[in-house]
Amino acid sequence: STTDLAQASEAAIRAVSPQAKPLELAVVLPTYNERKNIATMIERLDKALAGIAWEAIYVDDNSPDGTSDEARRLSLVDPRVRCIQRIGRRGLASAAIEGMCSTAAPVVAVMDADHQHDPALLPGMLAAITSGEYDLAYASRFAEGASTEAWGRPDRVKASGLANRIANKVTGVELTDPMSGFFMLRTQTLRADAHRLSGVGFKILLDILATVDTPLRVKEFPLNFAARAEGESKLDQTVVFEFLVGLYDKWLGRIIPTRFALFGTVGAMGVVVQLAVLWVMLHIVFGERFVYGNWSESTTFNISNTIAALVAMTFNFVLNNELTYSDKRLRGFAPLMRGWAQFALTCSLGLLTNIGSAAVLKTIGVHDVLAVITGVLLASVFNFALSSKFVWGK
Ligand code: GDD
Ligand code: MN
Repeated sequence: STTDLAQASEAAIRAVSPQAKPLELAVVLPTYNERKNIATMIERLDKALAGIAWEAIYVDDNSPDGTSDEARRLSLVDPRVRCIQRIGRRGLASAAIEGMCSTAAPVVAVMDADHQHDPALLPGMLAAITSGEYDLAYASRFAEGASTEAWGRPDRVKASGLANRIANKVTGVELTDPMSGFFMLRTQTLRADAHRLSGVGFKILLDILATVDTPLRVKEFPLNFAARAEGESKLDQTVVFEFLVGLYDKWLGRIIPTRFALFGTVGAMGVVVQLAVLWVMLHIVFGERFVYGNWSESTTFNISNTIAALVAMTFNFVLNNELTYSDKRLRGFAPLMRGWAQFALTCSLGLLTNIGSAAVLKTIGVHDVLAVITGVLLASVFNFALSSKFVWGK
């Protein structure tokens, strides 16, 4: 009967963990190359969260420095430490989402693992949530009483200020620091909407605020943003780019998927590169000798255009590898060479699609320009599908 089952499962729970105090809080710590910061962070959490039943969840993207190994080393003796090791994936936001979805704790926090966020704020944040007065607590670098002096990055402070103003417009919520990576909420709030989060880039808090339907009651905690303890920042080069991609994703991502939009933008830049290289070849390399030796004008043109197309294609490959597929980036000589060759093959097939479809459309009486544009669009979709699967697919 049902009561028997209930009793049996309670007995089973007691058998697993006879005296356990139910978990109250999970702290998710996304990591990439943070090995030296793990043990010290657990020590600080232990101090800050005395009397609270907590767990720490490291979500590590298979860092080459052995961060996962280090987390598991601690986990062996302290089961409050957990580690999710992701293989072949990169990204702060998606790591945070996966970590938050993986806990049984009713309340979950996300914070940086590099000691820039002070764990001493956690109990206050937890109290704000459990009181039922607030749905979200977060630490702000720009609230009254906060400071960023120790950060030592006036450039980033400025960029953050601008990003914040845009972000506040998008979400309609007035926060002093919507880019903060240090926040806490009921796990249920997150889980209800997790499938709608984009998981792109690093602006996870912004994403949550912009995604949930019912406005969240937010409590702000001033943060003294510390200097990084060990290692270096991973967001420096991509911070602005990812922010823009994130905004696009929220506004238009559902109509034209973000990755395809990136692929298309890179492709359009490739056209400009090809035209520029062609111009340089014809006017500077061949220049006066526009008709080289006994070559005809069309020969120099064809040679120039072939070189221009190869340069443009290589440019597209590099940019797609850095930006469009940054989470699946090919690294090292051999993978890059193989990827380039596969990309070249994809583009050649794409070119056939391009020319072929335009030819068919023209024979059935479609206007030239429309036929060409349709060919280009079909080829883009074709190239995108093929390179997603074969060049950057796993
Ligand atoms: N799993 C995973 N995957 N973790 C990552 C990745 C990734 O691709 N990239 C960075 N992290 C982890 C880092 O190891 C660190 O624990 C945390 O995310 C923050 O990364 P940092 O590289 O230290 O970022 P930051 O200090 O430059 O950026 C700060 O400001 C941003 C907004 O301006 C952080 O507070 C961010 O959280 C914040 O969004
Ligand atoms: Mn940092």
